Amino acid sequence: MIQTGRTNNSFDMKTANLILLNLIRLIGVALIVLGTLFWTRVDYTESLVRIHMQLGVTLVILLWILAIVAIRARVSGALVVRAILFGLIVAAYGMALRRLLGSTTAPNVYRVLHLLAGLGAIGLAESLGARIKRSVSSALV
Ligand code: HEM
Repeated sequence: MIQTGRTNNSFDMKTANLILLNLIRLIGVALIVLGTLFWTRVDYTESLVRIHMQLGVTLVILLWILAIVAIRARVSGALVVRAILFGLIVAAYGMALRRLLGSTTAPNVYRVLHLLAGLGAIGLAESLGARIKRSVSSALV
């Protein structure tokens, strides 16, 4: 079968969407598992915190790449802008978390906010993924 440029492009975006979404899910689970170890103090080693931070930054970068795929798939601008800005907030807040935890009498408030921000980023990735899928499928009809 001869594929047109448009169907090829849609196929590429569908594949990119699937790979990015699954990577984000996988990293999200790893971040939550590591975070649970830190929170419960079952394990809190410098190297694990560093791995958690690197995985967190990777998740944000993948979210931004997904946002670029969404732009190419002509997904609504508002959701794309929200994902880009939220990624920035998750990364900035994550980088500041240790300083914040060291200077507060209510550390659990900061911890819960950090967890919610992370879950929010994963939720936005899921929304972007669903919208990309819909947009690509309707372009194929
Ligand atoms: C750029 C992204 C991220 C950075 C830089 C980051 C950074 C950190 C740091 C430094 C800690 C340790 C704080 C401490 O000293 O106790 C931490 C803990 C934690 N993180 Fe992240 N994180 C990021 C993303 C995420 C995401 C996406 C999730 C969840 C989906 C998450 C969930 C948690 C949880 C549950 C904890 C345990 C709270 C605690 O007791 O410290 N993080 N994070």
